[in-house]
Amino acid sequence: MIRSVVCGVGSALPKRVVTNDELRQLVDTSDAWIQQRTGIKQRYIAGEGETTASLGEAAARNALDNAGLTPADIDLIIVATSTPDNTFPATAVNIQNRLGMAHGFAFDLQAVCSGFVYAVTTADNYIRAGRARRVLVIGAETFSRILDWTDRTTCVLFGDGAGAVVLEGIEETMAEGRGIAAVSLRSDGSHREKLYVDGGVSSTGEIGHVRMEGREVFKHAVGMITDVIEAVFDEAGIGADGLDWLVPHQANRRIIEGSAKKLGIPMEKVVVTVDRHANTSAASIPLALATAVEDGRIKRGDTVMLEAMGGGFTWGAVLLRW
Ligand code: ACO
Repeated sequence: MIRSVVCGVGSALPKRVVTNDELRQLVDTSDAWIQQRTGIKQRYIAGEGETTASLGEAAARNALDNAGLTPADIDLIIVATSTPDNTFPATAVNIQNRLGMAHGFAFDLQAVCSGFVYAVTTADNYIRAGRARRVLVIGAETFSRILDWTDRTTCVLFGDGAGAVVLEGIEETMAEGRGIAAVSLRSDGSHREKLYVDGGVSSTGEIGHVRMEGREVFKHAVGMITDVIEAVFDEAGIGADGLDWLVPHQANRRIIEGSAKKLGIPMEKVVVTVDRHANTSAASIPLALATAVEDGRIKRGDTVMLEAMGGGFTWGAVLLRW
């Protein structure tokens, strides 16, 4: 039996920080409203020359350095994104080329905010099937480019960035209990109208903008997140007590706190970066992972739960031993 073990993590953010106060120049809002409703204090916004592929490449290079590997060691790249540089080729193939790789294969995966959880699960399947040995899993987004900057109900919530992990297939007998232990993925397209982009190649021919019924999303989020985490706990045969860290998708502090409370997970065990990064969709979990590994919170051997919920709706969770 092969286990998929995280052997490196890295992240990258655009240069420009935009505070809540700066957004007051664009829309009728306030730092107090944004912080109270979401926990967001600032976000990073991509500038000229910064794209999903450039941020993804930088995060990938940091993850490879952290793993002590080079692009030559990678045989598959999966990029979770809803904001690709081009309609095609895939951002993953663009990043493959930027890394100087002409071997292996690469593709994008689109599950909006749940993209990273879906991509990690997909990579795990390739590794356990023996079809790939080392996989770069990247979550990279430039949501600022699909925001309606005149709509205060959405534009204050999102930011840009990228994060990446390297997953390596290791024989179970050598893995020391590390690796992905349980996963659960869900989707339900009947919730489309609650969170979607009102454009696309085959419908309007325009890129479109994020549209959201915030209260409706909020109403469903905690229940969906806690259901899928409980499914993963059941599969792994552990409970909240057995968890060292919950690393949630960073959409909103109130959703994170509500989910943790319902599951009986104390906030000291929850990694929160939404205050600094805002909602970076598929990039938010690997950005939070990189933050908590760099500052020494997540250590080798820790039991970590990743969870996300987003447009579609899609939702899912992954339990792993770091
Ligand atoms: N600044 C000031 N006022 C605002 C702003 C803003 N940026 N946005 C909305 N308001 C106003 C509204 O117009 C409304 O005014 P009204 O009462 O005069 O009509 C008032 O604030 C309350 O609006 P609500 O939408 O009811 O506010 P709510 O408390 O629900 O908070 C929020 C809105 C933060 C979007 C919340 O619903 C939420 O967090 N929803 C989850 C959505 C989410 O996180 N989506 C991210 C993508 S999905 C995911 O990743 C899970």
